[in-house]
Amino acid sequence: MARLIAPIALLASAALPGALAWGAMGHEAVAYIASNFVTAATKTYFQSLLADTSADYLATVSTWADSYRYTTAGSFSAPFHYIDANDNPPTSCGVDYTRDCGAAGCVVSAIQNYTAILLDARYSAANRQIAAKMIIHFIGDIGQPLHCEALDIGGNSIAVLYDGDGTNLHAIWDSDIPESISGGASLTSAKSWATTLTTAINTGEYKSLAAGWLTGLSVATAATRQATALKWATEANAYVCSTVLKGGLTTVQNKELSGAYTTTADPVVKLQIAKQGYRLAKYLDAIVAAA
Ligand SMILES: *[C@@H]1O[C@H](CO)[C@@H](O)[C@H](O)[C@H]1NC(C)=O
Ligand SMILES: [Zn+2]
Repeated sequence: MARLIAPIALLASAALPGALAWGAMGHEAVAYIASNFVTAATKTYFQSLLADTSADYLATVSTWADSYRYTTAGSFSAPFHYIDANDNPPTSCGVDYTRDCGAAGCVVSAIQNYTAILLDARYSAANRQIAAKMIIHFIGDIGQPLHCEALDIGGNSIAVLYDGDGTNLHAIWDSDIPESISGGASLTSAKSWATTLTTAINTGEYKSLAAGWLTGLSVATAATRQATALKWATEANAYVCSTVLKGGLTTVQNKELSGAYTTTADPVVKLQIAKQGYRLAKYLDAIVAAA
């Protein structure tokens, strides 16, 4: 039985929307953190644009882009979820916009593009609603180190074990490690994890760091939007060298990573989720201030 289940589970997860992004829970946690920090004006603006006056208005749309990319109409948006940094981890990391953002676009150009659309009143409300959903999703993706790495398709082709199950390095950073911290994959897990990280930002271990996370954040022009996103991508990518592939490929390939590896990854995953949630709040505030 077990021999049969493993390959079937692998095939199924490879075909599932969301297999190539912070899992749904990570995106929802980022969105809930953002909901905790936006201004009242931002909340009203996005509740109206998204036609949802519930407290979950950001979280429930945060994974839409991962379903859309697997539709025929949305396949053009698949490259928008990552940037393929052609660096050389763990020896050297770095993102170069000209080298790494392909002709089909990348997460940096996508944040730039959808911010321009959202700010342009000539677009229909329907198009601006899509732009909002894209931004809410991509500001999550850009914080996942392996979304800012070309090597082995962002780790998708690096086989690893997690709790004895065959999976890949990208997937454990998207889902297994975050879910091991939050306690599950549900919206409820995302919400309670977001509450914990919100407290850490307000009064705990991130209190002294949070203001610094906003350095350079600007939606003023196409150039500042690109610089903002590129800074975030560069920061996430640096963790590929310092943490994700620290010991080189051979230390992760076909290895069980639910133990010591996850212990080392945990602080980075928590930090990146907290940071992108806080940044998303302030980015949405900046959009509303400019709109
Ligand atoms: C910007 O977004 C629109 C709407 O989804 C899309 O058609 C276009 O290809 C995007 N442009 C870039 C440069 O990403
Ligand atoms: Zn994604």
